[in-house]
This record gives sequence, C-alpha cells and structure tokens, in this order.
Amino acid sequence: MKLRLLLSLFFLPCASLVSAQNFEQRIDSVMRLMTLDEKIGQMNQFNGFWNATGPVPAEGNSLERYEILRKGGVGSVLNVQGVKEVRALQKIAVEQTRLGIPLIFGCDVIHGYKTLTPIPLAEAASWDLQAIEKSARNGATEASAAGINWTFAPMVDISRDPRWGRVMEGAGEDPYLGARIATARVRGFQGDDLSAPNTIAACAKHFAGYGYVQAGRDYHHTDFSAYTLYNNILPPFKAAQEAGVATFMNAFTAYNGVPASADSFLMRQILKKDWAFKGMVVSDWGSIQEMMAHGYAASLQEAAELAALAGCDMDMESMAYVRHLADAVRQKRVPEARVNEAVRRILRLKFALGLFDDPYRYCDEEREATTIGSATLHKDALEMAKKSMVLLENKGILPLQLNEDVVLLGALANDRTAPLGNWRVSADNGTAIPLTTGLQAYFPDLRWAGGPVAWSGIEAFHAPIQVNETDTTGWAGAMALALSAKTAIVALGEHGYQSGEGRSRASIHLPGLQEAFLRALVQQHPRVVLVLFAGRPLIIPDDIRTKLGALLLAWQPGTHAGDAVAAVLLGDHNPSGRLPMTFPRHEGQIPMAYNDYTGGRPGPSKEVFWSQYNDLPNSPVYPFGYGLSYSTFTYSVPKLQQLPNGKVVLSVEITNTSQVAGTETVQLYAKLPASKHGISPGRQLLDFQQLPLAAGATKKVVFMLTPGSLAHFDAQGQKHLAKGKVTAWLVPNSADVANSLTFVID
Ligand code: GLC
Repeated sequence: MKLRLLLSLFFLPCASLVSAQNFEQRIDSVMRLMTLDEKIGQMNQFNGFWNATGPVPAEGNSLERYEILRKGGVGSVLNVQGVKEVRALQKIAVEQTRLGIPLIFGCDVIHGYKTLTPIPLAEAASWDLQAIEKSARNGATEASAAGINWTFAPMVDISRDPRWGRVMEGAGEDPYLGARIATARVRGFQGDDLSAPNTIAACAKHFAGYGYVQAGRDYHHTDFSAYTLYNNILPPFKAAQEAGVATFMNAFTAYNGVPASADSFLMRQILKKDWAFKGMVVSDWGSIQEMMAHGYAASLQEAAELAALAGCDMDMESMAYVRHLADAVRQKRVPEARVNEAVRRILRLKFALGLFDDPYRYCDEEREATTIGSATLHKDALEMAKKSMVLLENKGILPLQLNEDVVLLGALANDRTAPLGNWRVSADNGTAIPLTTGLQAYFPDLRWAGGPVAWSGIEAFHAPIQVNETDTTGWAGAMALALSAKTAIVALGEHGYQSGEGRSRASIHLPGLQEAFLRALVQQHPRVVLVLFAGRPLIIPDDIRTKLGALLLAWQPGTHAGDAVAAVLLGDHNPSGRLPMTFPRHEGQIPMAYNDYTGGRPGPSKEVFWSQYNDLPNSPVYPFGYGLSYSTFTYSVPKLQQLPNGKVVLSVEITNTSQVAGTETVQLYAKLPASKHGISPGRQLLDFQQLPLAAGATKKVVFMLTPGSLAHFDAQGQKHLAKGKVTAWLVPNSADVANSLTFVID
C-alpha cells in the first residue's frame, strides 16, 4: 500500500474534539513511518519564500527551499497570506512529499489581520478583558479566513522601559495585568476548539525576559535576577500556559548568560517539567543561528545541537536543524529521543488544528471573501479603539461642543497610514480613517492644516522612518489657522513604524519638529487640545504640558483611528482608558514602574541620603493605572472583613458625582508583609474591576483576597504565602494613597 495511502488513514474525518489518547496513538502511527530526515523536516520553519501560485522558482534560495519542501523538509511556513497561496503550498506538502504531512501556517496577527485594532498596549489601556478577548477572537476569525492557523501572539513581555519599541506589542509593566490580558488573548485566539476553522493556535512570546533589554535597545543584552524572573517576568507566561496556549516562542535575548533558544532551564525545567507544558516551542527568527553572535555557539552545527538538547522544537529561519541535526543524531551528539519529542509536539499541534483531518480546513475562498473586512470586524475595532484611549489632561475643554469653533492641525491630522500601528500584517498603507474624516462627521466645514511634515520616505515594516528635522513648510499657515479659531485640536506623535521591533528610541519626545511646533502653538493659543498618537509612553515637557487645554492619548488606534478619536473628543464615548505603563518625566528616570522595589532608603526626602535625584522628582508625569473621564467619581472609606478561612473581603462604594454616565476602573493594590524569602514592591496590583456608573449612581465594589493572591516567589521559584501585616488600597490609580486598609495574615 503506497505510504501516502496508508497515511491517508489519518486524514479520516473524526470528531473535532479528538481525545488526547487518539492523538498520541495517531502520532505514534505517523512517526513510525517517518525517516529521521522527515522528522527533522517537521522541526523546520521557513518564511513564505515565493509566490507558490506561480511557476516553480527558477533558481537560488527559493529553489533550494522548494526542493527541501518537496523532500518533506518543512513543517511550517510563516508570512504566507491568502487562501490561494496557502492552498498552493499545502498542496505541495500534502501531494508531493512522501508522507503528505500538512504544514502549519504562522503569522504575526498581533492586533488584527487586515482590519486593525489598536496596538496591544493600547488595548491593555482599556482594562476591558472581555473586549481584549473579543479583539483577539476577531483577529483569529479574519486571519484564519486567509488560511492562517497559528499566530505569534500574545506577546507577554513585561517591560518598564518605553525606549524599547516593542512595548507597543505587550500589556505594559505589571505582571498581574499582564497575566490577566495574556489569558484573555489566548482564549480569544484559540477559542474552545483549535480544530474549528475560525480559531488559531496562539504563541506566548518571547520566553523569557526580552522586555528587560538594557537601555531599552532592542536585541540588547539583558541582566535580571531569578527573583525578577519569577516575580515579574514569568507570571504572564504562566497565565498563558494555564489558559492552554498551544505554543511558546524563544526570546532573542540571554538569561544568566544563556541565549533563550539554548536555555534548558527555561524550556525543559520550567516550561516542560515544572509547568508540564505539552505544546511546542518555536525559536524566534534566526535566534538559533544568533547563538554565534551571542558568543555561545561556535558554529551553526553547534547551535543546532544546543537548541535541540535544550528543548527548542522548531527552528524559525536559521536552517540549523535542516542542515545539521540529522548528522548530530547519527553521530550521537543529540539523542533521537530529543527529535522524537519535538516532532511529537509539532504533530500534536497539527492534529489539534484538524490539519490531518483536512489539510485545507483553513482554505475556504468563500469564507475569505465574506469574512475579511466584515462590518462586524470594523464595528468591534472601532469600539476597542474608543475604549483604549486615555484622557490625561482636561481643563474643562473636552468634550467639545458641536457648535464650537474648532480647527484641526498637526502632522497626523490627515494621516491614513501612521495610526495603523506597527504589526499591520495584511493591512495596506492608507487604510486608516484619519482624524479629518472622523471630525468632519461632527464639523462638516472643518478647517485643517497639517503644518510641517513629520516624516518622509518609505512607510514599511522593514524601512526606517525619515524624520523631518528641518523643513518648516506649513508651520506659519497652520499657526495662523490655529489663531483664527477658539479651539485648536492638534494631532501629533509617532508613526506606527517608530515603535515596534527594531524601533528603539533613546529620546521619547515628540519626533522631529513636532515638539517645537507644539511649544510655539501653546505659547500663542489658550485652548489647545493635543491628540497624541504613540506606540509607547512619550515625554511632553512640562512647559508645554501645563499649557495644554486637554491631552488625549490615542496610541495607535488601528483602522478606526479618526472616528474613534472624534467620538471621544465630542463625548460620544466617555474616555475610560487607564495607563498600563508609567509615563516618565525624563529618560533619565528609566527604567521605572509603579511597582518598583523601594530599596532601603525610599525617597524622596528633604535630606540628602535617600533614594532620589537632585534634579528631578522621583515621580512620573502620569502613573500606572491613571486616566481621566468626563465623569467624576468619589470613593467611600473602604471596608475590610477577615474571614476564618484566611480570605479577606474588601469593599468600597463608588459614586458618579457628574451628569455623565461613565466607567471607573477600581484598582486594588497591596504592600505585602516583610518576608525573609525576598523583598516586595512598594505596592502591587492584586485585582481590578470595571464599573459602569450612570450619572449620580453609587455602586459597591467587593474584592476577595485569598492567601494565594497574597504571595510571592523566592529566587528559587518557591511560592511563599504572606504572613504578617498587609496594607491595601482601593483606588483609581497606582499613585493614589487615600484610605489605606491594614490587616494581618497569621
Ligand atoms: C520577529 C519577532 C517575533 C515574530 C517573528 C516572526 O523577529 O521577534 O516576535 O513573531 O520574528 O515574524
């Protein structure tokens, strides 16, 4: 019986929720048919390397890869987009290779596929876990309709350094918020059934510690303690694993002198042994090969062996496994058992995705045509964009009135590309709704002027943004327009490609001429509303910030940038966003986070020998958890009740004292007791609840703390429950110290 016919037995349709036992038996059956080279082929991932619907590549790199594919040397492909392309490549794998094992198609569906939601850091600012889950669900729906069955998301790296461009991709500085959001995103992408055609495998990345790159410089060295690893870096990864995330991805960086792709402590000890993770670990792009640049491996062959031994199951774009692993096994430098384990994990994912039952499950041209860009996706993307925005200043100017005399200016006023954000995958330049369009829905005769251009040149994932530092063309005209109106709305900030991978900035001020332009504007105009587009916390100097009439942080809102901003400016959405990351006063304060350890001499102090700067306050401009609303909320004196079983009930009453319905995010922070197992932050987020409140309404919010939620890890990863005096706060942001509660845990 031809092998492919034999293997076709595994393609038999079966219940999508195939039991794990079936998978293992079916995996065993497939593996018994595989040669060593075919096994290693499953461990190899190539970038989409040619237009598969076109002729076979004539020569060169693509031809080599095509031949490797046909020999069964590829297990997965990334960045292939569209059912036609996916089907063509899958057809080669299924019909032209000896065993016909289907490919997995991966892609960075980070904040949408073609209908872009706000960047993940912006979505985190919504603190709305249901909306965040729905956003991921929609990304999966749209991407799977285009043939994708694996996303390299959620990125769950904790970072306290806004100079690092990839803060846009995560959920900010806090491990608790990061863990809750990681869970929501995994659930959104994967749904309840990975084999369903509208769900995709998720990937917790980058394991682990990439967000701690020194000086915020991408791909730079990291140096953090095991104590930080267990208490700050791992919690979101653990949450993703507990949510059932299908895959993990290595970090580019090293921990304790070991590059993550070779780190058996992270992959074999923590992930696969302690956490009993049964999914698959993929390297990051070329990260196996980069062991040589790290000075860890002397050759690609050695890197391949180190990665395979450490538990890296799939090689993204190093060609290390496909070139060197078979020899390593044959020469007994790598046990075949390591290969078998990796292949088992990869095949398990393919079975779970239903690809063995139907390799073309995600290749439905009709579904592609009716799903991508659907009205539902657009509606939800707009809602998410509104919820992500954070009102940072408002001197009674917002919301604007319809009869208000306003003009719009600024480099981003009519920009249809910059606000899309960095990971835009299949979205085309020019597809964002600009602020001009958004505001024209309210002010049909809106007058606007861009002022000096912010950048020029190519706007692409792989191209640097050319920032304008000199050309003031348009400055005078925009200034004159501003002075002709009562209120000047000015849209400034970063291009989506000024944050994201490879986009670190040493200065996090407004790029180019924008800061000078804004300074001139606020010096001449008393009612300036700044709409700030950014992929990270930015610094607006005090001499400008204090003159602003209002400041709305729009982040990079995605496809519905302009209509979302306009809805917030005009009060059709009462801003509810809260900062997931601290806004520093100066780069000199960085890294900084609300949950910093206090040290032995916590500043500031009027005396000299305390932890402080001589030239700057310790405090940020805007703290973690901060955000204003058009409503005003008051908090009652909180109450506390300790239950016999060690649980603690805390409650507070919130009143909306305004005339406008709004949503308050009540945050529960605590200072844990002294512990010989390790120091603790000055305060840390333990829980939060979002509270929609009608005008004048009062609601009670109740939190329950269990002994397990009052715990921390020691440097060996052992969890220790708090014993002693705990101080707690139920407050609107991390800097608010009103009405603390204290209780003792015996
Ligand atoms: C990139 C990123 C990673 C991404 C991968 C595939 O270099 O570091 O997050 O998923 O390559 O695009």
